[in-house]
Amino acid sequence: MINSDKIFTKYTKNDRSNLIGILQDIQEEYNYLPETMLKKTAEHLGLAMSTIYGVATFYNQFRLKPLGKNIIRVCRGTACHVKNSANILYALENELKISAGETTRDKMFTLETVACIGACSIAPVINVNDEYFGGVSIKEIPKIISKFKKEEKETDKKELHEKLS
Ligand code: FES
Repeated sequence: MINSDKIFTKYTKNDRSNLIGILQDIQEEYNYLPETMLKKTAEHLGLAMSTIYGVATFYNQFRLKPLGKNIIRVCRGTACHVKNSANILYALENELKISAGETTRDKMFTLETVACIGACSIAPVINVNDEYFGGVSIKEIPKIISKFKKEEKETDKKELHEKLS
């Protein structure tokens, strides 16, 4: 369980210059900015919620919604673009029934685009969590997705088994 107070004790009350630092700490703990934490931030700094939201939505680094268990990043850099990364993205959007920037309803996958993953020699590239898939084709997309779904099921089974034993 996360102790949210430990974030706020680091920062002086009513010092508005701490806003970005607090938001960064919250996101590091929760992986996104939960509304309850934004309310606590507003109280701590004596700021209006509209100001907090204004800052949280201005910077790309902040997320207002939780991420899925698996983060899929599709490279849209130049090297990947010329090797049809747009179609890879389209295939993923179809497979997951979400658009880039969204998370599936079951919270299993978040789909993101990135400028360059840094693996241009194996373009087009996607990565799922820490795993890279280079020279990826549209045909492989369903297989990649089901691999992660299967891994998730196995983890769930293992956790259930551990709880019951
Ligand atoms: S452009 Fe895709 S990895 Fe660099």
